[in-house]
Amino acid sequence: MDRTYVKSGKVMTSSALIARRQAAVARGVAFSLPIVIREARGAVVYDVEGRRFIDFAGGIGVLNVGHTHPKVVAAIKAQAERLTHACFMVATYESYVELAERLNQLVPGAWPKKTVLFNSGAEAVENAVKIARAATGRPAVLVFEHAFHGRTIFGLTLTGKVNPYKVGFGPFASEVYRLPYPYCFRCPRHTGEGKCCQAEASNFLSQLATLVDPTALAAVVIEPVLGEGGFIPAPPEFLRMLVDWCREHGVIFIADEVQTGFGRTGTMFAMEHAGVAADLTVLAKSLGGGLPISAVTGRQEIMDAPAPGGLGGTFAGNPVACAAALAALDVFEEERLVERARMIGATVREHFLSWKATYPWIGDVRGVGAMQALEIVIPNQSKAPDQKRTSLVQKLALERGLLTLTAGTWGNVIRTLMPLTISDSELAEGLEILGSALKSASAL
Ligand SMILES: Cc1ncc(COP(=O)(O)O)c(C=O)c1O
Repeated sequence: MDRTYVKSGKVMTSSALIARRQAAVARGVAFSLPIVIREARGAVVYDVEGRRFIDFAGGIGVLNVGHTHPKVVAAIKAQAERLTHACFMVATYESYVELAERLNQLVPGAWPKKTVLFNSGAEAVENAVKIARAATGRPAVLVFEHAFHGRTIFGLTLTGKVNPYKVGFGPFASEVYRLPYPYCFRCPRHTGEGKCCQAEASNFLSQLATLVDPTALAAVVIEPVLGEGGFIPAPPEFLRMLVDWCREHGVIFIADEVQTGFGRTGTMFAMEHAGVAADLTVLAKSLGGGLPISAVTGRQEIMDAPAPGGLGGTFAGNPVACAAALAALDVFEEERLVERARMIGATVREHFLSWKATYPWIGDVRGVGAMQALEIVIPNQSKAPDQKRTSLVQKLALERGLLTLTAGTWGNVIRTLMPLTISDSELAEGLEILGSALKSASAL
């Protein structure tokens, strides 16, 4: 099928449309891949020139159920014909209530829960902190190095990476404290036996006493696996110790599962690998099956701390986005995507480990489930990050038909965020392209 995009008799090219983008759109919104997408289905994307790509990027982890899943599209159409907006602060509609009920059931924690919906990850993170402050009457928040929690001023305050996110946007909010994240690959005390993480956790927690009075701390906000920070899993021992510490000090434990949620790591939520349940869980990205929607779900008594009128937003929990989210949740069950994530992850990991054995510049292979990463370094240089070779791998992969994303504080990590609906043959095709890009990049 000819998939080129013809408008007013002219064939559109990616470069022409990117030139229009650059003339019309603020440059602050950067883009990683110089293509213009016209349509997509499952794990396959077509650009305006009709070129086909396997998608290992998933719109940054939004498309766990795949692009334009027929059930999600049908739900969007059906809802759009009935009601596109009402504002949940004006009147009630069922899809919002039903989604809240579903999330209350789905999110870990054997206690009564409530949910509130928003539009973006950053908005949900901010509101989780508002809720924690209202519930505790305390001001301070603890976060971690390399974290990413969004682009609003408060989200940026919580975010660890300075360049490019925070440059020029200060002053930031007060009462935010930061500890190192357990980054095993770069931890001088890492032994690989798990015990070191326990020692590290208690080391971190004793550092905390020198940072902030625990009785002033409303919440700890953590990604169970760092997303933008480079797909770094927090060791389960570390998470368990942190949760215990929070419970002991009356601090609310907030899991930011925006990127890790909805099956990505081979469990519905990444915190399940550590057997912990957060007091408040922040959700976004793959919740909406491609539509913008986010949520905070948590313990009922904490969620009900803000007074009526304290939470909400004009578009928050839009009925069409709720319908898409409900359909996406059905797809998760029907297509057993959580299980599928484990199979995808095992295949990807096998390839990544064989490449690590081949190329001395692949410093680390890590991840959980289908959230896998390669960290690229300069060999024999104390793990110095190699951003240049990482970009080259991404560029070569794109030229050969694969969309990939980088991550990490130094931009030297290749990460996998493919739709979990990807077929075995598409996965094999994507991995073959990535393998050939790595091979060519080894000649650098
Ligand atoms: C862990 C995490 N939290 C929050 C956010 C912010 O989400 P959004 O871009 O929807 O505001 C992101 C986005 O990448 C994220 O990965």
